[in-house]
Amino acid sequence: SLSDLDVKDQVVIVRADLNVPMSEGRVTDNTRIQSVTPTLLALSKSGAKILVVSHFGRPKGKVVPEMSLKPLTSPLSEVLGRPVQFVPDCIGAPVGDMCSKMLAGDIVLLENVRFHAGEEKNDPAFAKALAEHADIYVSDAFSCAHRAHASTEGIARILPSAAGLAMEAELKALEKALGNPVRPVAAVVGGAKISTKLDVLN
Ligand code: 3PG
Repeated sequence: SLSDLDVKDQVVIVRADLNVPMSEGRVTDNTRIQSVTPTLLALSKSGAKILVVSHFGRPKGKVVPEMSLKPLTSPLSEVLGRPVQFVPDCIGAPVGDMCSKMLAGDIVLLENVRFHAGEEKNDPAFAKALAEHADIYVSDAFSCAHRAHASTEGIARILPSAAGLAMEAELKALEKALGNPVRPVAAVVGGAKISTKLDVLN
């Protein structure tokens, strides 16, 4: 968990799920932004330099301008109540340059990780590139955790890793409901893409 980490002056790359519903350039439901906020603020308070990595939509390994995460910079900043800078890629020199300028507590949003084909392929070389400028990986995207992609699984093989506060809360809730529940127990399962929920239900 986060409490196991000493993050002061460390670059921490946090996997968030900022795949939020948008309409006409506006976020119509910011639940996912709110869910990663406690982790980002806790890391910031502890003096980490934070890189937020997420996917948005399904651009299938290509740059699709309509699926840029740049429009999420302001909504993220508003919910966090502090400035957020944007880097127009999630690997390479643009990220390295930003890291060299960041101060303890700064929060930076990286461009859509699915603009790179290596993300969904869980390509080890791409996972290494994602990890290149970071010291620690924090996974706080429970709603992506069923996918073994470079930013959810591959990178955790490279960097010291921890669950974020939202991930930890979800895992505790799951354990309470399914691990050793007080019976009778019922579960309500929702979501737009039922195909990915069936395995869980089964
Ligand atoms: C979701 O919206 O369910 C998650 O962000 C995962 O998105 P995906 O189904 O495109 O992997």
